[in-house]
Amino acid sequence: MRHLLDTTDLSLSEIDEMISLATDIIENGEKYAHICDGKKLATLFFEPSTRTRLSFESAMYELGGHVLGFSDAGSSSASKGESVSDTVRMVSCYADIIAMRHPLEGAPRVAVNKTLVPIINAGDGGHAHPTQTLTDLLTIYREKGTFDNLTLGLCGDLKFGRTVHSLIKAMCRYKNVRFVLISPKELQVPDYIITDVLEPSGAKYVQVENMEAVMPDLDILYMTRIQRERFFSEEEYLKHKDAFILDPAKLENAKESLTIMHPLPRVNEITVEVDEDKRAKYFEQALNGKYIRMALIITLLKWGGQL
Ligand code: CP
Repeated sequence: MRHLLDTTDLSLSEIDEMISLATDIIENGEKYAHICDGKKLATLFFEPSTRTRLSFESAMYELGGHVLGFSDAGSSSASKGESVSDTVRMVSCYADIIAMRHPLEGAPRVAVNKTLVPIINAGDGGHAHPTQTLTDLLTIYREKGTFDNLTLGLCGDLKFGRTVHSLIKAMCRYKNVRFVLISPKELQVPDYIITDVLEPSGAKYVQVENMEAVMPDLDILYMTRIQRERFFSEEEYLKHKDAFILDPAKLENAKESLTIMHPLPRVNEITVEVDEDKRAKYFEQALNGKYIRMALIITLLKWGGQL
C-alpha cells in the first residue's frame, strides 16, 4: 500500500506514468467508466475547499465509484474532540481510499500510521498540496510538452502558499529549470525550500520583489493568492493583500508563449480581463485536476492491490 503525502513520494517515472494515464483518461474516458465500480472514496475535509474536494468527488464518480465524507470539521466528531488518528482509523473501515485536507501541517503523516487504506494529502496547512502539483504538472506538460528548460515565475504569497512549495519540490527535479520567486520580502519561501530543496537540486533561482521587470523572461507565470487564513494578524494580511495584481498592461512585455497559471481560488491577484487572454490557463488547470485525480485514484488502488 502506498500513500501520497508530498510529490516527492513519487519517482519521476511514476509521475510520467500518472500523466500518461491522465492523458488517456482525457482522450478515452469511456474506458475508465467502471474501473472503480463498488469502490468508495472518503473525503475528509477539515478545512474549506471547492476544487480539490469536488474534483476528487467528480473523479471517483466518473470512475464508477462512490463517495462519502465531510466538508466541514464541525459536522464530524472532530468537533467533539476526536483525534485525527481515531477519525482516520474509523473511516478506513468504511472506504477504500481517503483524501484528507487538514489545517495542521503533518496531519496526513499522522493518519498514515493508523489507516488501513491509502491516504492522499489534499493539503496540510502551509506545507504541501501534492495533488495540486500533479494538476500543475499535467497542465505544464499539456501546454509545453516538457518539464525541462523552463523559466518558472512563482508570484505572491510564497511563504504560506503550499502549492508553491510542492511545485518547487517537483519542478527542481527536471533539467535546467530556473525559478523566479516574486514576492514581498516578508512572504518569501520558507528557508527550508532554499536550503533543503533548491540548493541541493542545483536549480538556478532568484528572489525578486517586482513582477514587471522579470516578465519577459518567463515561460510560466504561476500566480498565487495571499493566504489570509494563515496570517497571525489581519493588519499583517492587509499590508500584503494587493501586493501583486496581474492585469493586461503587465502582460505587454510577456512572451506570446507564456502560460499563466493559478491554483485558484483567486481574490484580487488576476483581473478578470486577463481571463480573455489566450495565455490564461487557470480554468483548464482546474479541469486537469479532475483527470489527474482520476489517474491517482486508479494508481493508488492498483498499488494497494484493490484493483
Ligand atoms: N486549488 C485548491 O486547492 O483549491 P480549493 O482550496 O478550492 O480546493
